[in-house]
Amino acid sequence: MSKLKIGLIGAGSISDLHLKAYRDNPEVELYAVSDLNEARAKAKAEAYGIANTRAFTNYQDLLALSELDAVSICTLNNTHAEVSIAALEAGKHVLIEKPLCQTVEEALRIEEAVRTSGRVLQVGFVRRHGSNTQILKKFIDAGDLGDIYYAKASCLRRFGNPGGWFADKKRSGGGPVIDLGVHIIDICWYLMGRPKVKSVSANTYHRLGNRSNVQHLSFYKTADYDASLNTVEDLANALIRFENGASLMLDVSFTLHAKSDELSVKLYGEKGGAELEPELLLVSEKYDTILNMSPQIDSRSFDAGVAFSREINHFVDSILGRTEPLSPVEDGVEIMKILCAIYESGEQGREIIFS
Ligand SMILES: NC(=O)c1ccc[n+]([C@@H]2O[C@H](COP(=O)([O-])OP(=O)(O)OC[C@H]3O[C@@H](n4cnc5c(N)ncnc54)[C@H](O)[C@@H]3O)[C@@H](O)[C@H]2O)c1
Repeated sequence: MSKLKIGLIGAGSISDLHLKAYRDNPEVELYAVSDLNEARAKAKAEAYGIANTRAFTNYQDLLALSELDAVSICTLNNTHAEVSIAALEAGKHVLIEKPLCQTVEEALRIEEAVRTSGRVLQVGFVRRHGSNTQILKKFIDAGDLGDIYYAKASCLRRFGNPGGWFADKKRSGGGPVIDLGVHIIDICWYLMGRPKVKSVSANTYHRLGNRSNVQHLSFYKTADYDASLNTVEDLANALIRFENGASLMLDVSFTLHAKSDELSVKLYGEKGGAELEPELLLVSEKYDTILNMSPQIDSRSFDAGVAFSREINHFVDSILGRTEPLSPVEDGVEIMKILCAIYESGEQGREIIFS
């Protein structure tokens, strides 16, 4: 059987995790790459053995390759809708990085394009593919936690606004809510059994700016970091209610006067509880005794390299019809509804109720 021909659009920071995973998949041929920045496109082509003639600056040229089967889209958030719809219309299967897009209206247009094209679209909710998530999911599916009625998640950076497009609301859609919150909201929602959202009450804060004055402490900066540009929130918190009575509480920040960074994801059910992050742990009660159980596994925290490989392999298996996408476009739409409601609630200072 001939190999699946894959193209990559957006050859920035995250693209290497996609490219490495494709390179390691024997059923795939890395075939084309596109980036607005020509040097970046050519450098990735060179590094991953893609013909120089198939390194494009205009992604439409890549999509025009009729022999190309599928694309990974790793561009800025404000291009996700346009590029993914164009790819679907060109008959390509799509793996789109998170967040699906910037607005619910865009999300619905992408959903429609998936339906009319009949192609596979997988949203890059990579944490679903982490070992700790997959292990916990087995316990949840077997009923060990019982009905999960509460989840709590935090992703707090004390000093970590990446700047560049991440700090420009027009291009990113927002700050830590859409960049970090998307991961922890999705992973809680997925493990809670994807309940329908009922309401969102949130607060968003623009109090500290990007703190470009701070010295002696390094952090990740985008290639186009500009200290004078920052239009995104620095902190948000939210209470999300679901139709089944369950709730999710979260907070996220790009910067905060916190002692240290914090990542925690916790789920509580009628029969047991679990911590997914910072390290997988199960809590239970047996014979009138409370137990904290630590799985003996290679990594109890999110194992990014392994998870990206699984995400890509799952995309390939979905294209080849061996499985259904674990994170279909419908899930991307639901998460966009929550993300947008957090911003709306924060701006309007009231609860957003879904009818
Ligand atoms: N899953 C994860 O954990 C994870 C982590 C980081 C980033 N991301 C997501 O990946 C995407 C990219 O993030 P990044 O950190 O790699 O950003 P980046 O700025 O490092 O790279 C983006 C690249 O896209 C290129 N680009 C922009 N518009 C383009 C277009 N129309 N055609 C071709 N190329 C274009 C830019 O020139 C740039 O090289 C974002 O949506 C981000 O949210 C996901």
